[in-house]
Amino acid sequence: MKSGKYLAAALLLASISSVGLSGVAYGETTAPDAVKFVDDEVSKSLTGAAGNVESGRKVFANRKQGNCLACHANKDLASQPFHGEVGPPLDGVADRYEAAALRAILVNSKIALNEDTIMPSFYRLKNGVRTADKFVGKTVLSAEQVEDVLAYLQTLKDE
Ligand code: HEC
Repeated sequence: MKSGKYLAAALLLASISSVGLSGVAYGETTAPDAVKFVDDEVSKSLTGAAGNVESGRKVFANRKQGNCLACHANKDLASQPFHGEVGPPLDGVADRYEAAALRAILVNSKIALNEDTIMPSFYRLKNGVRTADKFVGKTVLSAEQVEDVLAYLQTLKDE
């Protein structure tokens, strides 16, 4: 049947377009304004896949990316400089929060923590009146970086 052929072609095209430039297949990436919060949690991976712990650890410590160490300490990265104490230490954070809650905190801290928190939202479009031009329509971290940091946070368990 003809429609069967069209369907096969469409499926082939769909599978080609979901392959990233690096040649690695990614699932659907969720756009910042399409992230779904249910009870202040985000249960679906932003990339459709699990993050990478080692990359997440780097993003976490990188002052131009997550810069989490500016406000949070944790024992795993105790040798790194610039530990802030503005936010709570993140040791054992994986015991305190489920993945969906941690993802929500990273995506939009104002929704997941509190409206007045000074913690940045890492996957929210910056379109406020005080947003510098170069940041309009951008997020601090990419969907993949958020998932990587999340994977790293999930390793922070108290033993
Ligand atoms: C400018 C400071 C700042 C930066 C940068 C920051 N945070 Fe936070 N974070 C906070 C504060 C403050 C809180 C506590 C909530 C509050 O009081 O507003 C918090 C809370 C959290 C919590 C909840 C912890 C708990 O025990 O309840 C997590 C998880 C977290 N931050 C992760 C991160 C990660 C991961 C990064 C980097 C990607 C980051 N934060 C960057 C300030 C910051």
